[in-house]
Amino acid sequence: MTAPLLELRTVRKDFALGQGLFAKRRILTALDGIDLSIAPGETLALVGESGCGKSTLGRIVAGLMPATAGEILFDGHPPARGKARARQIQIVMQDPFGALNPKMSVGELIAEPALLHGLVTRGTTPARVAELLSLVGLPEGVAPRYPHALSGGQRQRVAIARALATDPKLIVADEAVSALDVSVQAQIANLLKDIQARTGVSLLFISHGLSLVHHISDRVAVMYLGRIVEDGPTADLFARPRHPYTRALISATPEPVPGSSADRMHLTGEVPSPLALPSGCRFRTRCPHATDICAEVDPPRTAEGAAHVACHLAHRLPAYQSQTPEPAPRLQQAIALYRAAAARLDAA
Ligand SMILES: Nc1ncnc2c1ncn2[C@@H]1O[C@H](COP(=O)(O)OP(=O)(O)OP(=O)(O)O)[C@@H](O)[C@H]1O
Ligand code: SF4
Ligand SMILES: [Mg+2]
Repeated sequence: MTAPLLELRTVRKDFALGQGLFAKRRILTALDGIDLSIAPGETLALVGESGCGKSTLGRIVAGLMPATAGEILFDGHPPARGKARARQIQIVMQDPFGALNPKMSVGELIAEPALLHGLVTRGTTPARVAELLSLVGLPEGVAPRYPHALSGGQRQRVAIARALATDPKLIVADEAVSALDVSVQAQIANLLKDIQARTGVSLLFISHGLSLVHHISDRVAVMYLGRIVEDGPTADLFARPRHPYTRALISATPEPVPGSSADRMHLTGEVPSPLALPSGCRFRTRCPHATDICAEVDPPRTAEGAAHVACHLAHRLPAYQSQTPEPAPRLQQAIALYRAAAARLDAA
C-alpha cells in the first residue's frame, strides 16, 4: 500500500466557550478522536450535516488552527508550520468573493502566492499566470479583469488557480462548490478531477451533501457530531452503506433517482448540541434502529475490509436496497455538456 500523504491519528479539537469573567467556562469538543488518511493523488470526501466539524478538520489540516490533541503526519512527518505548510497544503473555501481581494486583478491574484513563495520571478510570472488560467479552464483574457466582473463559477476557478499556484500536494476544498448553481457545481467538480489527473494533487473534498461525492471521490468519510461514523471506498459505501446515518444521508440526497423512493429513509429530529451529547452512541436520538446497548456503550470503530464503521448493529441491519449511484439526471446532463465544451476547447 502507498504510504499516506496525510494521516490524522485520534485528532481532537476543543473550543473553550464563555471565557468572560462571570461566564461559566464550557468546552465544546468539535472533533473527537479523528482517524483519517489520504493517499497521494487521492480524493477523500468528508461529508456530514452542518456543525459536525468538517471545516474545523479542514482548517486544522491546512494549518489554520492547531489541534488540541492527537497526531498529524504529512509525508510521514509532522507538517511544517507557517509558509512552508501553506505552500504544500492549500485551502479553497465556499465564498471566493470573500477570499479574493476586490482591488486585485485576476492576474495579480493568481501571481501573488507564487511570488510570495518565491516560485516565479517578475519575468516568468506572465507565463505562469497563463499556465494556471489554462489549467482551470479560463481564457488568458480574464487576467486584467477584477473579481466583481466574473461569474461565481469563474471566481471559484480563480480561487482554485490561486491554490494551485504553489504546486501544493494537497488541496482542502471546503464546500468549494456548494454556493454555485447545480450545473456550475458539476463543472467545478469535473475541473477538480481533471486537475488532479494532470497534477497528481490530493484532495480533501468537504461537502454537507452527497450529490457530487460519488462522481468526484475515491473514498468517503461520513461525520456526525465530531466523529467519523463510517468511511470506505466510494462505490462500496454507496452500494452497501453500513451505518444508519450514512443510509439516511444517501436517502436525503437531492434529486433522487426515479424509482428509488422505496428505500428512502428520512432523518428526523435535530442534531443534538455538541455541549450535551447523548450517552452511548451519539446518533441514537435520531437512529431508527437504536436499542438498549446504544444508550449505554459508545460503539467502537471497527474495520470491515477497506471500510470502517462505528455502529453496534452494523452487521444486523436489514440489507440496504442500493439506489443507482449515478449522479442525478440534471447533473449528468450538465457533466455531459461540460465534457463536450471541454473537448471543443481542447480541439481548438
Ligand atoms: N472558533 C470556534 N469557537 C467555538 N466553537 C466553534 C468554533 N468553530 C467551530 N465551532 C463549533 O464547532 C462545531 C463544528 O463546526 P464546523 O464549522 O467545523 O462545522 P461544519 O461541519 O463545517 O459545519 P457547516 O456545514 O455548517 O460548515 C460546531 O458546533 C461549531 O459551533
Ligand atoms: S449504535 Fe445504535 S444508535 Fe448508533 S447508529 Fe448503530 S444502531 Fe443506531
Ligand atoms: Mg463548514
